[in-house]
Amino acid sequence: MPINAIVLAAGEGTRMKSAHPKVVHKLLGKPLVWWTVDAARKAGVDRIIVVVGNGADEVRAVFADDADVECVEQTERLGTGHAVRCVRDAIGRFDGPTAILYGDTPLVRPETIAALIDETRTNHYACTVLTMCPPDPTGYGRIRRDANGAVEAIVEHKDCTPEEQATLTECNSGMYCFCGGRLTANIDKIGTNNAQGEYYLTDMVEIYRSMGEPVSALCSDDYAEMLGVNSRAQLATATKIMQERINNRLMDNGVTMLDPNQVWVGPEVQVGRDTELLPQTMLWGNTTIGEDCNVGPNTRLTNVQVADGCSVEETVGYDTVIEHGVTVGPRAYLRPGTHLLAGAHVGTHVEIKNSTIGEGSKVPHLSYIGDTTMGSGVNIGAGSITCNYDGKHKSPTVIGNDVFIGSDTMMVAPVTIGDGALVGASSCITSDVPADALALERSKQQVIKGWAAARRKRMQEEE
Ligand code: UD1
Ligand code: MG
Repeated sequence: MPINAIVLAAGEGTRMKSAHPKVVHKLLGKPLVWWTVDAARKAGVDRIIVVVGNGADEVRAVFADDADVECVEQTERLGTGHAVRCVRDAIGRFDGPTAILYGDTPLVRPETIAALIDETRTNHYACTVLTMCPPDPTGYGRIRRDANGAVEAIVEHKDCTPEEQATLTECNSGMYCFCGGRLTANIDKIGTNNAQGEYYLTDMVEIYRSMGEPVSALCSDDYAEMLGVNSRAQLATATKIMQERINNRLMDNGVTMLDPNQVWVGPEVQVGRDTELLPQTMLWGNTTIGEDCNVGPNTRLTNVQVADGCSVEETVGYDTVIEHGVTVGPRAYLRPGTHLLAGAHVGTHVEIKNSTIGEGSKVPHLSYIGDTTMGSGVNIGAGSITCNYDGKHKSPTVIGNDVFIGSDTMMVAPVTIGDGALVGASSCITSDVPADALALERSKQQVIKGWAAARRKRMQEEE
């Protein structure tokens, strides 16, 4: 039997004070709602329906490429019960387990969602509520149990008597697993007779009780998992918790961190054993780091593949492939389309864009290499630049194997420098250089003997 999940994500998120919907704010490089959806997937959910409302287009865009996620719009925010009612058409006659989750609780673990689904399915419950006992229950819906300890109702904080507010400490996390068929058949029974005049999904508990349908509660001992992000401060708190989870997993798998508080790694990043991540390192997107690497300090890599035995120091990189034994930095900028072949070296204040640097080739200091294909064993002298842009078009540079480029060389593209050629320092190369040739473009040096000494003498006499 397939499993559905409904992710409620239509809310305003007023407290974020943002022009963007709350659930697209990023936690370790991924939108908040992505985390819930990812946890649902890992829990074995087959189909995920996200209820969007505020900033619907921005939320839809998060899942543009995901075939298992669809978005349904809730045009008016009339409460959590109303939000679920909006997806009734999408659910159709589906009768399997239907988890209800929030788009702003990124810390929920797949195991917790799976346990909730399992509890409901194996016991044929109409609904299982995930509950928690936070140190401060203010604001949460409270679980009311009968004399036998069975769940009787969920009473919203605002609808509780002062006595209930003080004594009912078990709270509704807002996550549930319903039996799909019984949910769609009965959701219309929810009314708005409450303090907020909203359709409360929580009313389903009492509705089922009155119908004699079995309802249960599963209490989680980790309330941090249910932490909702409503403000920037809560976003920072959730980030810290997730950072700790991810870094602990990496360290358990053999990654060294000088200070795990200063390393931020996205959920899809992989890091090999015996690699050290130094402070102020951020690894985002589908970045992978091999074994025995040193990364950082002060390094941000997004969608960068680093093979084994590399050192990447003080570097910003995007969409780059780095083969084994490469050294990069300190202070390098690797832009999309960069490919550094085995044993290459990219040094200090060097920018590379859309270029291949061949095996063992070196670009050690103060250079820009763009739209270039470079062979192996090349040395690029300090301050050399490929002039790839004429203000309108980008042109390629081709540098063969074992080429030596003297310092301060301008290679005006399109241009090809053949295998084994040598370019003298400070040349402006505007036409192709054949293999094994010397190319030199500079004016002849003048030497006037004694001139400097004579000038010094003249100046001293003037004082
Ligand atoms: C809800 C629960 C409460 C629980 C708490 C846990 C109800 C009535 N109450 O209260 O028992 O303790 O969560 O955090 O369900 N949403 C929509 N459309 C709407 C209304 C809400 O999509 O019309 C979404 C929001 O974006 C949010 C979630 O549903 O992600 C919860 O809504 P919110 O209004 O914050 O519920 P709470 O008052 O916190
Ligand atoms: Mg509310």
